[in-house]
Parts: sequence; structure tokens; C-alpha cells
Amino acid sequence: KLPVIIDCDPGLDDAVMLMLAHGSGQLDIRAVTISAGNQTQEKTMLNALKVLSLIGATDIPVYHGAENPLFRELIADGVVHGESGLDGPSLPIPDMRPQPENAIQGIASVLAASETSVTIVPTGPLTNIATFLLAYPHLKPKIARISLMGGGIFRGNMTPLAEFNIYTDPEAAAIVFKSGVPITMCGLDVTHKALVFQKDIELLRALGNQTGKVAADLMDFFSIYYRENRVELNGGAALHDPCAIAWLLNPGIFSTKSCYVDVETKGELTRGATVVDFYNTLHREPNVTVAYDLDRDAFIDMLFNAIKALP
Ligand code: BDR
Ligand code: CA
Repeated sequence: KLPVIIDCDPGLDDAVMLMLAHGSGQLDIRAVTISAGNQTQEKTMLNALKVLSLIGATDIPVYHGAENPLFRELIADGVVHGESGLDGPSLPIPDMRPQPENAIQGIASVLAASETSVTIVPTGPLTNIATFLLAYPHLKPKIARISLMGGGIFRGNMTPLAEFNIYTDPEAAAIVFKSGVPITMCGLDVTHKALVFQKDIELLRALGNQTGKVAADLMDFFSIYYRENRVELNGGAALHDPCAIAWLLNPGIFSTKSCYVDVETKGELTRGATVVDFYNTLHREPNVTVAYDLDRDAFIDMLFNAIKALP
């Protein structure tokens, strides 16, 4: 099994990402660390514990992360994921507690204790990961890769060019992209192809297990935003965060290109944009494997098989 640490801000699609990660049976999830993003740290923590309890992953240590971006205010307006950050399904109060150490200490202890290098999968703002990289530079060689959801080559969703996770903490993202750790980036170009439609959601609900039902309920809620605001997706909702896990499970279903990528932290119109040198105009050493397309049906199969394997 591939050892991973997941850093997330659940978040409806983060919840689906956790289902894919655990249900695949192919990952050894050594820790889940929590970022503030889709909602406040308090809410995203509660949501993570609820989802991990639901999917029978109560033995995974969970760590509190930063409450705010490095230099900016948190934008947690509940527009996409609701006031709770996980609107839609109703999940019981979890019988699970976070670890006493924080996310930075948690990542450090997992890496220090690991004989092999570990992959980090961030699906929220990159505050925790940037802070970790600055605080424990000697542990960088223990990171095999960072497979993240964030950014975009040609588009944004918070501003015309900036995607939510990067826009929320651009300085943190810049630290991560400049870190020298190999990165795979699943940005909006590819995640807007990871679409789930109403007919898929009904299949999920019909699987018969509790996780399938919860996944269907939360995708129903998530789809409302997409139907109202992303008409060009023809009723599909973009399952962003599971892409960062799916690439680890089967990179063959993705189209990727090695590119030099940096993050705009000061632009008047472009703050928080990932600047992807897709055509290698700068002739710089590529630092990111940029995913830009995927086989949607293979992705949905992978996801549904994982959810089917859960309680
Ligand atoms: C990203 O922002 C959040 O709303 C989602 O969970 C995803 O990580 C998409 O831009
Ligand atoms: Ca997320």
C-alpha cells in the first residue's frame, strides 16, 4: 500500500475524496490533517471526524491545522458546501477525537517514523503544508510527492484566473510550489471533467450501503451549486478533490504534462492564480506534473467501486 498523509478541509468533495482514499484499499493513510477553507477549522475538523467514522476509518490519527491563511482572512461563506461545510446528509456526532498534537507535528512524526517516503495529498488551502515545509526542512526528502487539488491552467473559480484553494492562501501555495518537492496538480481544467450526473448519483444511492447513501445525499447538495452556476457542465457537478487521490491510484486515466508552475501572490487581477508555463515559453525546469484531462467513466468506476467497499 502507498503511504499517504491527507490534508483536507471537508467540504463535500473532500468527503468523497476520503471515501475514495479509504475505500480503494490501496493506500495506507498514516494521518489526516485538517485545513480551514471550505469552512472554519472547527467545522472542517468535525466534518472530517464524521466522515472517517462513517467509513470505518476511526484508527487514522487526525490532527488540527491552522485556523487562518498565513497572511489573509479566511473566506468561509458556505456558498458551495453550506453553513456546516458538509450540508446535505445528516451524520451522527462522531465517536472519535483529534490527536493532541497539531498538523505540523503530526506530519513531522509520521515522516520521521516512516522507513520509506510518504506522499502528501492536500485538497484544501496549503497553509499547513507550507508551514510544515518551513518548520521541518530536513524532513523534505521524506516526502515522495505532493498530489494536490488546486489551481488551474486556463481558469479560476474564485476570480477569472484563481481557484479557491490557491486563492485562499496564495503565499502558502507559492511556498509549496517552490519547495522542490515533486508535485502533481489537479486543477480546474481536469476536475471540471470529473463530473458526476444525477443518474450516477441514483446508482450510488442504490448500492445499498450507508456510505453510498451519504455520498448520494452530499452530491445532491453539491450539484445544486453546479446546476445553478456552471450551466456549461450540463447538469454535472465537478468532483475536484477525489482527482488528487485518483491520480495516485491510476495515473493512466489522466492526461498530464510536466510544466514549470508558479503562483501569483501580488497581481492586481490575478492574485492566487497558478501560472502554468504549458508551452514551456520560459525554458525553466518543470516542477509540476499538471493534469489536464481524464477518462471520466474510468474515474467514476474507480470511485463507485471504492464507495461500494465501504460500510
Ligand atoms: C476546491 O475548493 C473547494 O471548494 C473544494 O473542496 C475543492 O478543494 C475547488 O476549487
Ligand atoms: Ca477541498
